[in-house]
Amino acid sequence: MYEQVSHSLLNNILTKLNPDIKSKDLRHFYTRLGANFYSIYSLFHLLYGNRDDFEEQAQRLVETMARQYILRSDKLKKKDIEREKDHNWFLSQKWTGMALYCDGFAGDLKTLRSKTSYFQNLGVNMIHVMPIMECPDGHSDGGYAVSDFRKIDSRFGSMEDLDKLAKEFRKRDILLTLDVVLNHTSNEHEWAQKARQGDEKYQDYYYVFPNREIPDMFEETMPETFPDTAPGNFTWIEGMDKWVMTVFKEYQWDLNYSNPAVFIEIMDVILFWSNHGADIVRLDAVAFLWKKIGSTCQNEREAHLILQLMKDCCQVTAPGVLFIAEAIVAPVEVAKYFGEDAINAKECEIAYNATFMSLLWDAVATKNTKLLNQGIKSLPDKLERATWLNYIRCHDDIGLGFDDADIRLAGYEPVSHRRFLIDYFTGVFDESSARGMPFGHNAKTGDARISGSLASLVGLEVALEKGDPKEIDEAIKVIILLHGMIMSFGGIPLLYYGDEIGTTNDYRYIEDERKSGDTRWMHRPTFDWEKAELRNRQHTAENRIFMALKKMISVRKDTPAFSDFNNRELYDTGNPHLFAFCRTNHQHISDKVLVIGNFDAHPQHMEFDNLQAFGFMPHHQLYDLYSGEKPAMFKNALVVPPYHFYWIQAR
Ligand code: GLC
Ligand code: GLC
Repeated sequence: MYEQVSHSLLNNILTKLNPDIKSKDLRHFYTRLGANFYSIYSLFHLLYGNRDDFEEQAQRLVETMARQYILRSDKLKKKDIEREKDHNWFLSQKWTGMALYCDGFAGDLKTLRSKTSYFQNLGVNMIHVMPIMECPDGHSDGGYAVSDFRKIDSRFGSMEDLDKLAKEFRKRDILLTLDVVLNHTSNEHEWAQKARQGDEKYQDYYYVFPNREIPDMFEETMPETFPDTAPGNFTWIEGMDKWVMTVFKEYQWDLNYSNPAVFIEIMDVILFWSNHGADIVRLDAVAFLWKKIGSTCQNEREAHLILQLMKDCCQVTAPGVLFIAEAIVAPVEVAKYFGEDAINAKECEIAYNATFMSLLWDAVATKNTKLLNQGIKSLPDKLERATWLNYIRCHDDIGLGFDDADIRLAGYEPVSHRRFLIDYFTGVFDESSARGMPFGHNAKTGDARISGSLASLVGLEVALEKGDPKEIDEAIKVIILLHGMIMSFGGIPLLYYGDEIGTTNDYRYIEDERKSGDTRWMHRPTFDWEKAELRNRQHTAENRIFMALKKMISVRKDTPAFSDFNNRELYDTGNPHLFAFCRTNHQHISDKVLVIGNFDAHPQHMEFDNLQAFGFMPHHQLYDLYSGEKPAMFKNALVVPPYHFYWIQAR
């Protein structure tokens, strides 16, 4: 849009551009800057307009974007233009992701590159390599306490290794996802070190207070993220003799985004990794970006403005790059990270679907789908050009973040229902064979979350110990059922490394004093490549799970109804153990797939009459895309075996 004030500022900025920038060919950059500048200006002004140095900061922002554009390789620039033309490219069903720790999975980046064929064999083509930037050993929070935003931690290798990995992935049409940990830095980051030495410029990069007055006001309304291991949200820094805001661990200092210098620094970091080949940047802990006294300091409006501004700036320099919002927040809040006020995604194109994840776990524990159905009904519609990341497990804990109102509508009392789930997954009940552990237990509120690997949480670890074939079989079926759901729901399924071969809990973290306080390490395994070999031996658990996922991924790729164009309708089966929804190919609406999952240990049935509403007529031949067989029928009902799912099409 053309608007005088912003346009005249843009003219000033361009006139004053540093000669080394002016001399370059920035054709595409200028067109995009012109197109986005009104929006960039408006957001930057809303956030920082009250400062005397506003124009100077705006100049720096544009120069930062221009410099990174100059550094962007021709290959990536070409990719940007291709993706501009095919702007819905990431909504396709062709993508399936996997998240992994570079060291846990492969050791280092070089070895990771040599594992590309493993990904291709399984069919995954979007790899989230969890944080690889420099972190202090021991105080790393698994890579989320960064001490140098532009350096690869020597444990993983060098920048050259990463560039080679990115190149290899590009060659094989595999997307690379990298993290930018933008809410905080390690206390050993240069900025924090300088702040500690008394440098006021850098103290202003963080939230630093001389006494408890303001921190106490904040604490009145701020929840605790790690109540058991890092209580409170502020840490006293000896030497600096001040309090600093540390929402996560005491060694993770929260960045102060009310300072535009911080915004520009981090924008530069995002573009830096985009230029090193990240197709997708995962923005960590985005709900926390803005702090306000009297609030929970999560999901604040300004946090959204910051993300919109980041997206606008990224679109000018590296428009092919997508953002993932890691916002593990209430269902009504999470959809806002796609960009609430805009028609198209104006913040992050992709967001973790933590709601679906936790609801699936509820169905596993209760063996019914009452809350799952209710919770999905309340999941807000997405914008166009936005998609979910659907996952079962990740490197973090499972939070039971459902809506209390939904829990009640499903017929439970919220506090006791959450208690039940924690007891179930930590194996308190005799009939539960789950082997999870509590995480983040809050003695004041009684809240807790759950750690544990997928296989151990569904009982595979216990079943293998007992050597009970029936229990082993059931646990494997649950693993496959859950994947059958995330692969077809709509969005990008994100597998977690090790789950594809049924990796159980890793208890060695208890002996490591740097990890023992944090149960999340039990599900951050060192990938066992010998165990992985068993995927090639028939009838092993590894083989059954790996082959099932491989097949699902391949069927998914050939099923356009699984692409994500808000083309899902939830279906009420009338049976509390079944979860069903219909997916429609948005280009051929007669092309439909009915997904049905049975979360119960007994066979369940669904009246066929019900299916007619979806255009499945009695004379149709029903066909399960996944097994390639006809689904079981009895009289007029479809029979769904225990822990089984169908992807049904009519022929
Ligand atoms: C994100 C990460 C988590 C980390 C936290 C703080 O939630 O996923 O692992 O502890 O941010 O950086
Ligand atoms: C992030 C997530 C939260 C998680 C925490 C630690 O803050 O929002 O759900 O528990 O990281 O893993």
